[in-house]
Amino acid sequence: MWKGRFQTETSNLVQRYGESISYDWRLYACDIEGSIAHAAALLEAGILTKKEERAIVRGLQEIRREIEAGEFRFRTSLEDIHMNIERALTEKIGDAGAKLHTARSRNDQVALDVRLYCRTEVQAIHLRVATLQDALLTLAVNHPSAVVPGYTHLQRGQPVLFAHHLLAYLEMLERDKERLRDCYGRVNVMPLGSGALAGSTIVLNRKLVAERLGFPAITQNSMDAVSDRDFVAELLFAIALAGVHLSRLSEDVILWASAEFGFIELSDAHTTGSSLMPQKKNPDVAELTRGKTGRLLGNLVSLLTTIKGLPMTYNRDLQEDKEPLFDSIDQIKLALEVFAEMMVAAKVREDRTLAAASDPFLLATDLADYLVLRGVPFREAHEIIGKLTAHSLAEGRGFPEMDIEELRRFSTAFEADVFHGLDLRTALKARKGVGAPSPAKVGAQISRWQRRLAAKAKF
Ligand code: ARG
Repeated sequence: MWKGRFQTETSNLVQRYGESISYDWRLYACDIEGSIAHAAALLEAGILTKKEERAIVRGLQEIRREIEAGEFRFRTSLEDIHMNIERALTEKIGDAGAKLHTARSRNDQVALDVRLYCRTEVQAIHLRVATLQDALLTLAVNHPSAVVPGYTHLQRGQPVLFAHHLLAYLEMLERDKERLRDCYGRVNVMPLGSGALAGSTIVLNRKLVAERLGFPAITQNSMDAVSDRDFVAELLFAIALAGVHLSRLSEDVILWASAEFGFIELSDAHTTGSSLMPQKKNPDVAELTRGKTGRLLGNLVSLLTTIKGLPMTYNRDLQEDKEPLFDSIDQIKLALEVFAEMMVAAKVREDRTLAAASDPFLLATDLADYLVLRGVPFREAHEIIGKLTAHSLAEGRGFPEMDIEELRRFSTAFEADVFHGLDLRTALKARKGVGAPSPAKVGAQISRWQRRLAAKAKF
């Protein structure tokens, strides 16, 4: 492509080192779409005749078909997808093909291709996040009254509905969707026409190109446009954080599926056995997801590190944006899909969750609140219940198994009605503030999510 200035061929080693075709071939459909729009602008500017433009469009469509049929021969010597397609086009249609690159550089071309690629993928990821939300919501709806201990420091804290715990993940995933939509706005800007870095003396109608490709805006600075990968970094961050959320869910699932917790049983289809220990049923999907999150974080840091030292404008370093981007997109899509499938198929063992949630110490805070409502300052109430807890542990008897006289030894504010509040269902019902886990509030949240997710088709 640059034979004019050079006397010797690029060394084989440099070809191998510098090629990107082995991974950027995936941009083929975006590259072709972009070139067809570019050809329309060249036609309008009188650079191409109608006949030439037709030949280009037909040639590019044929190349697309060949690639999709697996008939296209990608050449490493042609470095990347842009040059592979351009050369194949010129071989097919001759001179018209050689005119296509007028007023365009691979620098604005690759920026366009990556934006087009991200546009589709952001929507694909968004859809899969919504599908996982659906799956978790289904699980919540199927177990509306299951109770679990809520944990802090992985120590039993206070009782909650299992549905409340699941809905916490719906909130996190909703923020992931918001981030994707927000990032989409900055992806959706058309850079073609920026040339190598300074536009071109052949001025094309950039708005026409943007319209053809469905971009609502065009970039306003050619130097920024060819070197900007902020939108890739943003997408990688949105993916990384979604991955972190999945990784936390993984950790919960792994704990829940253990014999010690036994809150859920994963289906055979989503677990693996051990080659040695016949009794094992391992939550590999969750472990892999937790593990792969490392890659998602790495991909983000890798891209930021690539960008951080770059002088204006395009530098070849930027070719390193694609592998982390493609990898993160592939991995998050798979993780979201497999998680959705696994969560709907999981069995919740409500007997086990109830047994764990029936731990009387989960109501220690409620007992302190009881004293507060009878005029005891909270700090004092906290200490009284602390002492009562130590007594209960030493005696091996829970609060409900003590009689009122025994309780009154710790505080005379205790009355016979204290036992009413020591019931798990009563305690849950009392947590009726906004965002709290009373059955009524959780029920309302479930309805809210059902309505919200029904509208998920709108991106
Ligand atoms: N393969 C290159 C990339 O992915 C395309 C742009 C190359 N531009 C250049 N001036 N060498 O970034």
